[in-house]
Amino acid sequence: MADKKPFYITTPIYYVNAAPHLGTAYCTILADVQARYRRAMGYDVKFLTGMDEHGEKVAEAAANHGMSPQQWCDSQAPLFKNLWQQLEISNDDFIRTTDERQFTAVQYLWNKMQEAGFLYKGSYDGWYCVPEETYFTENQVRKSDEEHKTEGQHLCPDCGRPLERVQEESYFFKLSAFQEPLLKLFEEHPDFVQPAFRMNEVRSFVEGGLQDLSVSRTSFDWGIPVPFDTKHVTYVWFDALLNYMTAVGYGVNTDEARSQLAHFWPAQYHLVGKDIIRFHCVIWPAMLMAIGASLPDHVFAHGFLTVRNPETGAAEKMSKSRGNAIAPSDVIDLLGIEGYRYYFMTDVSHGEDSAISFERMEQVYNADLANSWGNLVSRTLNMSAKYFDGSTPNLNGWVDHTGVLREVTDGLVERYCACMEQFDYVGAKNTVMELVHAANHFIEDSAPWNVAKDETRTEELRNIIADLLEAIRISALLFTPFMPTTSAEVLHRMSLDDQIACNSLSEACTWGGIASEVAVTKGDALFPRLAAKKE
Ligand code: ME8
Ligand code: MG
Repeated sequence: MADKKPFYITTPIYYVNAAPHLGTAYCTILADVQARYRRAMGYDVKFLTGMDEHGEKVAEAAANHGMSPQQWCDSQAPLFKNLWQQLEISNDDFIRTTDERQFTAVQYLWNKMQEAGFLYKGSYDGWYCVPEETYFTENQVRKSDEEHKTEGQHLCPDCGRPLERVQEESYFFKLSAFQEPLLKLFEEHPDFVQPAFRMNEVRSFVEGGLQDLSVSRTSFDWGIPVPFDTKHVTYVWFDALLNYMTAVGYGVNTDEARSQLAHFWPAQYHLVGKDIIRFHCVIWPAMLMAIGASLPDHVFAHGFLTVRNPETGAAEKMSKSRGNAIAPSDVIDLLGIEGYRYYFMTDVSHGEDSAISFERMEQVYNADLANSWGNLVSRTLNMSAKYFDGSTPNLNGWVDHTGVLREVTDGLVERYCACMEQFDYVGAKNTVMELVHAANHFIEDSAPWNVAKDETRTEELRNIIADLLEAIRISALLFTPFMPTTSAEVLHRMSLDDQIACNSLSEACTWGGIASEVAVTKGDALFPRLAAKKE
């Protein structure tokens, strides 16, 4: 572990108020693709996801189901874990805020904060949005009312749902003390928040002034008690954000925990949706500064998957609490698991909001997977088996020749990696598809079926088929983060099982990695065309 470079990546921990949906899965797959990519690049990856179980929203969901909050959370945990498993999420850990390790870490945090002098007791009198677990000031609420023209009921400036009036004794975190340090952080690390356009939003929020934050609640008890004042429970976000450090050993006084923390903290990436940027880019770094801990390298914020509101026709955020969510199983039934992953990762831009369309899913699946990649693999493996007696050709002398496909791969992996590192999965996919399309054209242009008829052209036939097999091998390696099972299957069909678990991707993609005279398995279509599937 120690000699490999660490790469620690996290997803939000999701509220356990309803079953996970396409949006929940979206961020988790986004992180999974990066985690798989980094493992293939030789990093020591820690990939964390989990559940956010405390707070009013979860307590309400439990009450609505006639269960205690703990019973409710326990009943929901399998929904999350099973979905992640089904979607091939390769998380190394699954944290629950009801875990004992979280209890310990949060209480440790309270004591640290108290010692550092960043807490004081007061009383909170203002507005609270339960679905977002967020406080709003009178000013923010009034402004929102003007915009939304509400009467009688105050609505959340962020999500538009009714607010609750909260008046209670509370501990406050001196967030206001961190305005300057945060602005300095943004100045010195302009890529702290990604994509870049999100940084402006965060910066202007901080420039507008920060108010101290209420970080404990006394009007209900579903939370971690404040160690030195146990009628208070921790505000759910103060608890939740710390999960990222808890999972790598924060607050545990053993050598093992300390060395794990030193190895994996600070995290390289927190992946979040744009709804929770302020928590991750303002409150969380301020909390870390307060306790003298290092800050994560980057927070990457993606946009929302949206659905049409049938009444207003407007695009709205797909959400558990709004009840407008599409279940992942609906998409899995249509595209299969890897088709699902491929569509969301390579056709949906990861910065802006995206409307979901089943029509588009079918189009992408058929065009890229069924007709292009799947077809390339099946044609090539069939030809190899047919012309070379069920095997790959004899490769003696083959690497000395340079054909068009080899030229296409020149610099391709570097471009792919540059895209992957910026979460530009659309760009990364495009580089792989360049090779796939070039290979399909190459089949047409070189017409191996004619070459095979001419006994004087055996070397040419060998080079054509070997070039195609090599292009397939490289595309399978590069598609692995997106479609791990299919890519492994493709490598397996070329008897390259030893290349499936890769930890030096650039090297593995060097031209010339196929094996000589090994069995080729034709197999079933990797991606049956959708129209055919429905019949
Ligand atoms: O905010 N499109 O949890 P949450 C894309 N517990 N992504 C979506 C989405 C959509 N329509 N809906 C949800 C919380 N997401 C806190 C987090 S972290 C310390 C605590 C994704 O269950 C997106 O990543 O409301 C969003 O930020 C996250 O789910 C919020 O999940
Ligand atoms: Mg939410």
